[in-house]
Amino acid sequence: MDFDHVWESVSDIPGWLTEGQARTLWAAVQRLEPGATVLEIGSHQGRSTVILGHAAREVGATVIAVDAFVDGRLFGGASTKDRFEENIAKAGLTDVVELVVGYSTKLRPGWDRAFDLLYVDGKHDYWTYTDDLRWSAHLPPDGEILVHDCFSSIGVTLGTIAKVLFGSRFTYLDRSRSLARFKLAKPGAADRLRVAAQLPWFAGNVFIKVLLRLRLRVVAGWFGHHGPYDPF
Ligand SMILES: C[S@@+](CC[C@H](N)C(=O)[O-])C[C@H]1O[C@@H](n2cnc3c(N)ncnc32)[C@H](O)[C@@H]1O
Repeated sequence: MDFDHVWESVSDIPGWLTEGQARTLWAAVQRLEPGATVLEIGSHQGRSTVILGHAAREVGATVIAVDAFVDGRLFGGASTKDRFEENIAKAGLTDVVELVVGYSTKLRPGWDRAFDLLYVDGKHDYWTYTDDLRWSAHLPPDGEILVHDCFSSIGVTLGTIAKVLFGSRFTYLDRSRSLARFKLAKPGAADRLRVAAQLPWFAGNVFIKVLLRLRLRVVAGWFGHHGPYDPF
């Protein structure tokens, strides 16, 4: 299936992923070799997983989806697991996508399976996100890491400042709105500057989030932000 048909097929799966971001996921999987594995942290109802799964099928790869299906207003808890499984089955991807239910931070210390591409979209606090980056120990040298809500979530952005701007393991490549791409490589000064150059966009997102918390959606609309969700 080509990208446009796959994107159309996820239109009724609730989630947080723009078309541009879906294209970034699709392209990253298309760069993999047959037999490769993608590991996704944070799958929710499967909007991104279906994109990854169809792209993986195209290249002969597979996807491991890790989600704890946490309770709460946004994520919906145990019934979300049923939605996820229904959506994967409806997409015909049960032979491509393996679901691992659990908290990423609890699973990581005992994990011993290699993979070739890491997509991080789980819990967005600093501690969980920086722990999720440690799953990259299972990537090959130069492996790619995709991070959603980068430069939009405060926790993810603080983690990126600590581990990418001031760290020595990850090089920032580019982003589609809040979906950033990193690779496992020591960054140079110019790479670090490119991370710093994203911070004004982050400041704008924090401003919108403050407006939304103050229930000033109309004012957020004046600044080009529409809808109830934080910018992503
Ligand atoms: C933002 S949603 C993921 C959205 C999804 N990628 C999409 O495209 O629709 C975050 C997901 O991460 C899961 N989650 C939150 N904390 C987690 C953790 N520590 N480990 C694994 N999953 C977690 C939630 O249950 C939720 O389904």
